[in-house]
Amino acid sequence: MSSLLTQPGIRIAPSILAADFGRLAEAIAVVEKAGADLLHLDVMDGHFVPNITFGPPLVRAIRPCTKLFFDTHLMIEDPLRYAEPFVKAGADLLTFHTEVTDEPRKVVDHIRALGAGVGVCLNPTTPVSSIESILPDVDLVLVMSVWPGFGGQAFMPEVLPKVAELRQRLRPDQRLEIDGGIDADTVERAVRAGADTLVAGSAVFGAPSPGEAVETLRRRAQHAGREGLS
Ligand code: DX5
Ligand code: ZN
Repeated sequence: MSSLLTQPGIRIAPSILAADFGRLAEAIAVVEKAGADLLHLDVMDGHFVPNITFGPPLVRAIRPCTKLFFDTHLMIEDPLRYAEPFVKAGADLLTFHTEVTDEPRKVVDHIRALGAGVGVCLNPTTPVSSIESILPDVDLVLVMSVWPGFGGQAFMPEVLPKVAELRQRLRPDQRLEIDGGIDADTVERAVRAGADTLVAGSAVFGAPSPGEAVETLRRRAQHAGREGLS
């Protein structure tokens, strides 16, 4: 598995959801140059969430533009059906929502067999107990700090105890990602609670300088991380 997932440290994952889709290649180049670690791809199917974004063709189109790791967040009802096309298009890791299945083990095994990293996502009110059986076998757990579907929503601090609970449970080679309303202020609280992988859409691509926004997020996150260690 990629050392980006297994080695400790802060990872910044800009979400292209807030970028200008007409100039996606340029937007990606800017955050890659600024030192982003992962590119967060928000896939929405209009069923699991009330919004539609993009599918494998867009992933395939941007794959040659960048070396960034494709952190693919599947907000879709049927991950078993669509996992393979996303991996073939160039996704490096697929994160599915636990709320869509009664058989999370099946989804984990399927994604793993395709050769991609495996993440599982929890909506704001979904408890850790819902992923108990697969927790040791995923590369990443994603905690939603907004209700999925749209960028630009306010951070929900009530998910922080769940982040802290997961921090206690996960091994150092598993990542703890948080997604929704992460900006230069909220990032510190998320990291102090235990998050190591920070998704940011509007705080990056809505900023006057997306490159500087990536640098600021990393600086603040690393600062909060060091405080946590002292
Ligand atoms: C929301 C998506 C997020 C979104 C975050 O459903 O999963 O990744 O892009 O956007 P911001 O950072 O603007 O809250
Ligand atoms: Zn996302």
